[in-house]
Amino acid sequence: MQVRDAIRARRSIKRFDSRPVTREEIEALLDAAALAPNHRLTQPWRFYVLGPEARHAYGLALGERKARKLEDAERGREVRETVAREHRDLPLMIAVAVVNATDPEIREEDYAAAMMAVQNMALAAVELGLGSHIKTGGVMSDPAARAAAGVADNERIVAIVNVGVPLDVPPTKPREPAARFTTWVP
Ligand SMILES: Cc1cc2nc3c(=O)[nH]c(=O)nc-3n(C[C@H](O)[C@H](O)[C@H](O)COP(=O)(O)O)c2cc1C
Repeated sequence: MQVRDAIRARRSIKRFDSRPVTREEIEALLDAAALAPNHRLTQPWRFYVLGPEARHAYGLALGERKARKLEDAERGREVRETVAREHRDLPLMIAVAVVNATDPEIREEDYAAAMMAVQNMALAAVELGLGSHIKTGGVMSDPAARAAAGVADNERIVAIVNVGVPLDVPPTKPREPAARFTTWVP
C-alpha cells in the first residue's frame, strides 16, 4: 500500500468488530510508532497496551468524570458503568505517554514526536486492515486514569489510540485544500 493511499483511507473509527487485535499486529503498530522522527533521539514515547481490566479501570475514570456533570445520581451510575464496559470491550487500547522533559523546548519537541508516533500507528493500522481512533482530553491527567494505564510519575499520557477491525468506515470529513492555508514565501 502506498503511504498516500493509507493517508487517504484513514478515518477515526468508533465501532469495532469483536475480533481481538493479535500480538503480531500490535507489535507491528508499535514498531511503526517507534520509527517516528524525534529530535536528539530522545525516544520520548512510552506505550501502554491495556488489557481488559486496565481498559475497564480507564473507562471508569472517564465515566466518573462524565457522571459528575449529571444531577441524577442513578443516571450517573449508569453512565459510569456503560463507559467502563465500552472500554473493557474494545479490541485494543493503547495509551501513549511521553516522558516529561524539564527543558520546555525539549518538552515540546518530545510531545510532537510522540504524536508523530501516534500517526505512524494510525497509518500502519490502515495497512493492516485495521482502524484506529485517537482520543485525548482532561481524563488523561486524571489520577485514576493514570493509575489504570500504569504510567510512571515522570510521564504524561498524550493520546489514547483505540484499534480494531472497523465495523463501519465513515465517509471522509471535509477538509479545505492545503492551498487555502499555504503561503508561498519568496
Ligand atoms: C490529537 C487528537 C485528539 C483527538 N481527540 C479526540 C477525542 O478526544 N474524542 C474523539 O472522539 N475524537 C478525537 N480525535 C479524532 C478527531 O475528532 C478526528 O480526527 C476528526 O474528527 C477528523 O476525522 P477523521 O480522523 O475521521 O479524519 C482526536 C484527534 C486528534 C488528532
